[in-house]
Amino acid sequence: MTESHPPKTRDQWGSRMGVILAVAGSAVGLGNFLRFPVRAAAGGGGAFMVPYLIALLLLGIPLAWVEWTIGRYGGQHGHGSGPGIYHRLTKGRPWAKYLGVLTIFIPLVICFYYVYIEGWTLAFSFFALTGTWDKAIAAGEMDKFLSGFMGAESNQYFDGPWTAIVVFLLVFLANYWVLYHGIQKGIEKLSKIGMPILFACGIVLVVRVLTLGTPNPAHPDWNVNNALGFMWNPDWSKLSSGRVWIEAAGQVFFTLSVGMGAIMAYASYLRSKDDVALSSLTAASTNEFAEVILGGSIAIVAAAVFFGAAGASEIAKGGAFSLGFITMPYVFAQMGAGGIMGFLWFLLLFIAGITSSVSLIQPALTFLKDELDWSRRKALVVIGAINLAVTGFIAMTIGFGTLDEVDFWAGSVLPVVSGLVMIVLFSWFLGIDRGFKEMHKGALMNVPRVYRFIMKYVTPAYMIFLLVFWAIQDWWPTATMQNITDPQRVLMIGITRGILLALALLLVYLIYVANRRHKFPHLTGEE
Ligand code: ALA
Repeated sequence: MTESHPPKTRDQWGSRMGVILAVAGSAVGLGNFLRFPVRAAAGGGGAFMVPYLIALLLLGIPLAWVEWTIGRYGGQHGHGSGPGIYHRLTKGRPWAKYLGVLTIFIPLVICFYYVYIEGWTLAFSFFALTGTWDKAIAAGEMDKFLSGFMGAESNQYFDGPWTAIVVFLLVFLANYWVLYHGIQKGIEKLSKIGMPILFACGIVLVVRVLTLGTPNPAHPDWNVNNALGFMWNPDWSKLSSGRVWIEAAGQVFFTLSVGMGAIMAYASYLRSKDDVALSSLTAASTNEFAEVILGGSIAIVAAAVFFGAAGASEIAKGGAFSLGFITMPYVFAQMGAGGIMGFLWFLLLFIAGITSSVSLIQPALTFLKDELDWSRRKALVVIGAINLAVTGFIAMTIGFGTLDEVDFWAGSVLPVVSGLVMIVLFSWFLGIDRGFKEMHKGALMNVPRVYRFIMKYVTPAYMIFLLVFWAIQDWWPTATMQNITDPQRVLMIGITRGILLALALLLVYLIYVANRRHKFPHLTGEE
């Protein structure tokens, strides 16, 4: 092997607990508390857990093992993002580094809208404490309150989007401040402080919801038992719909942050003999506890206690944002200690959000540092400027569906494509024998042998099947904007796509530049 650029000294995690909490922090996010309950309730309750668990075992967990392993492997050679890692895995195939663009593009694009929503959670935690929304709740106008806050309309509650913009800027600065302090002093510290607080808030909220009893004497059937039944009683008929299987798989990708490149970047800061097998499983299990036990017991269950099963069913159809930011304030208004509970709910969402969003920015930062030798400060300024511009555009045009458009590509479609690339390069190019050996370096557990077969055949086949099925069912009508009639909406979505394409091309160009600077050396033979 020829190596023109020996690896530089890179940051490192301070402790095993630190990296596990950081990866768990990346995984536990808004998806666990807003997206999961809505999807589970709409997808057959307990029955949804069948496709969900299958996707977890056949897609999520194997991909997490792979991403941790190739991340640590790349880090040993000075690479923490897809381009350099894929170059290594394929022993220098010239096309491989360009596929790595997905692992920088996807997390960055998710972060563009994610950080914005994070701002809402911070603002709403303040509104809960101060009762800012009391009038809106009394008038039954929380939807107006939210759209005024977002800037989608000017009304008696908000005169323009300025509150949302100021809070967004605060949250934006908090994210970049953490990243500026690096892996150990920034991300690890945030996770070590944030994650215990998040779990404490979650447990308090679950206990509060489970002890609500029958709060409305006029509706004796609106009680906790029936609410839990609404959330979890299986409706097996839903499993005959392909869409439910796709949504379950999509949820597993989103919640574990796999296929995005975030775990890969974090794992690249491990030492060569640090365990990945057990750590990956521990982080994934922590996420599942937060998702199924906490996420599955708070929002929809509370909504069903106060609005009955029929009401909660409508709420679930309204989607994750409506549940979190419109329904939940009504719920807290009717609950004892509602102000404090509302504060804890939005604080939980804020911590879940920030520990995820820093992990979504890190891959781009890692790429610019590793492959273009930019300083951390320079990289953060450039990424931050792009973030501000694109988030600003999304914030101004949210009423035209631009946020949903970005989420559709970066949060749903592309992680599956990227996960497929990752697992194929691992199982077929690095080779499953070598891959397993790499995974078990310093391992604190043995990954079951059956996963050799799963990673080589089952996971890729499952993803190809999902992609094809999904493409036929969903992508084509969405990609061609078949259901959109409003010309202004078409224009805004067209501009959004243009921005995404320009960003992808810029990243491809930067990979090309790094290549010209011999960052991806010619590799010959076995290392
Ligand atoms: N994994 C993160 C979430 O669930 C992105 O929100």
